[in-house]
Amino acid sequence: MRTLIRGGEVVTAADRYAADVLVEDERIAVIGRDLGSSSLAQGAELIDAAGKLVIPGGIDVHVHMELPFMGTHSIDDFESGSVAAICGGTTTLVDFVIPKRGDGLLDTLETWNQRHHGKPAVDYTYHMAVTWWSQQIHDEIPKVVERGITSFKVFMAYKGVLQLDDDELFQTLLRVREVGGLVTVHAVNGDVQNRMAERFAAAGQLTPHYHPLAQPPEAEGEAAGRVIDLAAIAKQPVYIVHTTCAEALGRVIAARRRGQEAYSETCPQYLLLDDSLYDLPGFEGAKYVLSPPLRKPADQAALWQGLADGSVATVGTDHCSFKFAGQKEMGREDFRKIPNGFNGIEERVNLLYSFGVRPGRISASRWVEVCATNPAKIFGLYPRKGTIAVGSDADLVVFDPHRHDLISARTHHSRSDYNVYEGLKLEGMADTVLLRGRIVYQGGQYCGGKGGGQFLKRSPL
Ligand code: URP
Ligand code: ZN
Ligand code: ZN
Repeated sequence: MRTLIRGGEVVTAADRYAADVLVEDERIAVIGRDLGSSSLAQGAELIDAAGKLVIPGGIDVHVHMELPFMGTHSIDDFESGSVAAICGGTTTLVDFVIPKRGDGLLDTLETWNQRHHGKPAVDYTYHMAVTWWSQQIHDEIPKVVERGITSFKVFMAYKGVLQLDDDELFQTLLRVREVGGLVTVHAVNGDVQNRMAERFAAAGQLTPHYHPLAQPPEAEGEAAGRVIDLAAIAKQPVYIVHTTCAEALGRVIAARRRGQEAYSETCPQYLLLDDSLYDLPGFEGAKYVLSPPLRKPADQAALWQGLADGSVATVGTDHCSFKFAGQKEMGREDFRKIPNGFNGIEERVNLLYSFGVRPGRISASRWVEVCATNPAKIFGLYPRKGTIAVGSDADLVVFDPHRHDLISARTHHSRSDYNVYEGLKLEGMADTVLLRGRIVYQGGQYCGGKGGGQFLKRSPL
């Protein structure tokens, strides 16, 4: 099967140039000028990309599909999550396997595989969370890597549930180093967060207004700095997920200046939304509750600057959506019970173009780099994924810089009953999406069918 994407402008992390892209079966076969007249393109299905950009399929390395969390499950599973991702130009997802304290890594991986069986319509892999430490965890870490999962996740918050202490963190860093993996970190001081939240609760301060106050930027900066120092001692690279503020990003920048391999991921919500939303009337602020919380405009500016100058490596979403009705409402009387998280998987690539590239905050190549190329490189998927090159998977997005729309829960593909970006205007949107050579989104419609996504087995980094 052959497809010719004709007349577009190819954008990679390195270049921007006019070229046709010929896809043969699942891979990119030829990139060149005027391929339509060449015998190679005989019989190919044509996609007209005139006036459009051709970019690699987005890679979102931070999503939670059907996650059991805070007394409920995140509402998007791999079926609705895949459709939402693809409709927004993302073709690869990385979900998190999160064992309960006391549970094994391999048993939990089996649970995750069963839960998601037959559902992913995107290509996908997992990060494995370490939520407690024992000889069993020590012994299972290399077995996880043998199964092609080379990135791990630790939480410095969610005390009593997911949080590791410094000894457990350090042991994880040392062990993952031995097997050629990478540790990713939710960096917020969970003891501080827990104590602050308890103090607010004791004073009857239980509305969403207090959610961000319980985890101030200093608590994020402290944790980021601490784990970066532990990683330096362990001689292990480290990846800080969902960086929200200047305090945490500053720790990453300082580490990189010292020559340490430290990466920062941020998310669209921390670039575009701020903490004034927690003060919306009634219980509306609950819609925006996630951890770490939304911050101030000055933090948004620091993150945009980090995106522009390269100190922010990737943009994920932390897509962990819940319905307002019946789920966010669980915390109506107490902000500590509001399930943490919301949507982003469908909006990420389009938002970063509309609010990053279009106003000139970042270049188109940088957009591709943070949404696809760097995620692929850091997590061992490159060059199969994350770029446009001969031999790479034909995960491609024909992106129309002139297509515009308003984001709305009425039209999004998430199962959530609201969208945190409701009413924002997209100026530039994914138009046609291919996953391994197959057209899965076209004419504003998902057309990829059910399932069909492949598990991506990765090699030690
Ligand atoms: O609020 C969030 N971020 N929910 C998902 C779990 C996590 O901490 O990433
Ligand atoms: Zn987190
Ligand atoms: Zn997360």
